[in-house]
Formats: sequence, C-alpha cells, structure tokens
Amino acid sequence: MKYNTKIKKPQYQNGFKVKKRKSNKIDPDLINKLKKDSAVKEAAHLLKKGELVALATETVYGLAADALNPAAVKKIFAAKGRPQDNPLIVHIAKKDDLKRLVSRVPERAKTLIDKFWPGPLTIIFSKKESVPKVTSAGLETIAVRMPAHPLILAVIAESGLLLAAPSANTSGFPSPTKAEHVYHDLQGEIPLILDGGPCQFGVESTVIDLRGQIPKVLRPGGISREKISNFLGEEVFLAGTEAEVKMKSKNKRSEKNSAEEEVPVGEEQKKAIAPGMKYRHYAPQQQVFVFNLTDKLSVLQKAIIKAKTKKIALIAARETEIEIPLERKDNIKEYRVFNHDQPQELAQRLFDLLRKIDADSEIEEIYIEELTAVGIGEAVMNRVFKAAAAENNFQPGGGNN
Ligand code: TXA
Ligand code: MG
Repeated sequence: MKYNTKIKKPQYQNGFKVKKRKSNKIDPDLINKLKKDSAVKEAAHLLKKGELVALATETVYGLAADALNPAAVKKIFAAKGRPQDNPLIVHIAKKDDLKRLVSRVPERAKTLIDKFWPGPLTIIFSKKESVPKVTSAGLETIAVRMPAHPLILAVIAESGLLLAAPSANTSGFPSPTKAEHVYHDLQGEIPLILDGGPCQFGVESTVIDLRGQIPKVLRPGGISREKISNFLGEEVFLAGTEAEVKMKSKNKRSEKNSAEEEVPVGEEQKKAIAPGMKYRHYAPQQQVFVFNLTDKLSVLQKAIIKAKTKKIALIAARETEIEIPLERKDNIKEYRVFNHDQPQELAQRLFDLLRKIDADSEIEEIYIEELTAVGIGEAVMNRVFKAAAAENNFQPGGGNN
C-alpha cells in the first residue's frame, strides 16, 4: 500500500450529464466552475508533481499522468500492471494542443476532429520527437483524443498538462465505468480518484488510423464505424478483418503496378491491430459464453441443462423470450438490461455487470446474448467476444487492456 487512496466528488456533479451532442460544444462556464473546485485543484497539483490521478471521462475512467513526463508515465504501467509495449492515449482539452504532440494533421483527421471532438474518437498520428518514448511504448506514432467529460477537461485546463491515460483498471480486468471500480482495482496504488459519476458510453473510444490509404479502425468504440464512414463518404475498415487485409494488398499492388503478390494474412492482420489486442481482456474470472437465439440456440440449451448443478448468470435483451424450467430458476440469475434496438444500454452497463457477476462467488459461468455488430453494437460485441475468448491471442478488431 503506497497511498491512502481518496475518492473525491467535485461539486458540480449535476452538470456532468454530457448533453446529447447536436454540436460538439463544451460548456465553458461549467469548466470554469470546475477549475475552482478543490478536488480538481488537488488533482491538477498531484499531476504536476508527477503523481497519478484516476478520473471520469465520458467513455470509461482513465488513469492519468503528465504525458510529457516519462517518470510519471512509467507509474501508470506499474500501477496497472500494464505490459510496456502497449502505448497510451494522450488526452487534450483544446484542439490547438494537438500541435504539442504532432507536426502533421492529415486532411481526413482534420475532418473527423471538426465533427467528433470532443468525444470518444482517438486518432493515431506520427508523433513529434519530444513526445517521450514511454508514452508511445516506443512507437513513432501517438494516439490522441479530446474527451467530452467536463471533469477531465477541467483537470487538463487547470493543470496545463496533456494527460496520458489508459483505462483505470488493473490490466486484464473490465474497464472501470464507476469510481468504485477504480477503487477496487487500484486502491493503495494511487493517491486520488475523481468521481464524475457513471460513464455515459461505458465502452472505450474508437481508435482510428488515418495515415494510410484506407482509414481503419484499430479498436471499435463509442463512435461507430458507420458514422465515421458516412461522414467521410468512404468505407472505413475494421483492422484485422479479411476485408481490410484484401483492400490493403489491392492498394499495394496498384501502387507498385506490379504482379499479384501473396499476402500472409495472419501476419498482416496481427500487425494491423492496436498493440493492446495481444493481451487478455475484459475478463471476469468466470468463463463467458455468447448465445444467439437464432443459430446458437444450443449454447443456451446447454446452459439451462448445466444450471441443474451450476449457478449461471444470463445477460439477455429484455424482449428475448427464454423458457427456464421452474426447477432451474434458482440457479439462473437473469439480467435484462437492454433492448435489441438499444445496444448503448448494454454498452453502458456491460463492464459494471461483468464486475458485479465476478464478485458473486456462487456464479460459475456467464452467458451473454449476441447483438448485431452494427453501431455501438460492434464495440459491445468486440468486448464480449474478448471476454469470451480471453485465452485466445488473436481477435479481429483489436481491443485494449
Ligand atoms: O476511451 C478510452 O479510449 C479510454 C479513456 C480513458 O480515454 N482509454 C483507453 O485507453 O481505453 P487504453 O490504454 O485502455 O486503450 C488504448 C488502446 C490500446 O489498445 C492501445 O494499444 C491503443 O489504444 N493504442 C494506443 N496508442 C496507439 C498507437 N500509437 N498505435 C496503435 N494503437 C495504439
Ligand atoms: Mg484499457
């Protein structure tokens, strides 16, 4: 125990509902009020001293350090038990601050920044020399986003820093969407947690790489690929899927104007994805299974049979009809937390549920209903499959830890 970890709730809690964004404006009055809050001031002070602070963003809680201070950034890896080769996202509070990290902003990136910042979109850029290697895990690129939550925006503004922040969980655990989740994982490891209430999105930001010929999403997240694609007027690929690999090799061939070239798909796929995909992710202790009422009915049937002797948890849409024999009811704990047409409800609750179920020592297996992987459903299913295939080394679409 290095610290007596405190949780502090800044005063302007009621202002934290991030408004449904018609325009991506932030409320400067709220940020100014927050900058004067004593907890925000304390956070800024700690960060300037090179300490870590966990705090709310609109996606998940982040574990922040001064992105330009290598000694501070190193503490993030230690506190989370994060592998050294997994780079961090740098958070900025005004678009102009991008200049401090990168020298060139590609046209497509400018377009997306105008539309989606502040918000859950992380963009990969070639980094300036001055950005410490530890922050980018030795890569020549740096991931940057401008979050929409007023709390982190106020802390960045008050400290004058840029904040490197991964999700504030112990590596391999589900990302934290409430202050208490952070406390559970990092108690004793950090001095302060700023409580900004439950996170609005509940899944992490979309990570996109726009440097090549084809825009590609390295990790699906809060802003859907469809939205980005509609806005850019071109297809946006999910890294590591066959479609992306084929497109890439087609482009390569036409570039070189050369004869057909063999692409070792597996290798290409692995290189394409966010480094974080290599690790174990989002996994509660219990085994996770995915069921689908149309083509994987047997998974659910087997679950119901297993419930004769085992306690299981069932996460299903409200409208999904599941017939559970009376004698099995005691062994099946049902969570009905979303409607099929509202995957954002499951997104918002998923990590909290996985943590709750994880803490229930009686439950031995978890069954989650499959959603169509469109809109935010793509990010939800990416996280669900990660939890279900936690031992697998490779999953298309990346992930994080
Ligand atoms: O919503 C979010 O993105 C949250 C909040 C706190 O902002 N942060 C977050 O960070 O999820 P983290 O570290 O848990 O996930 C970052 C992901 C990892 O998969 C990492 O490998 C990838 O982004 N990443 C970071 N820098 C990268 C880079 N230069 N190139 C490719 N992938 C990168
Ligand atoms: Mg993470």
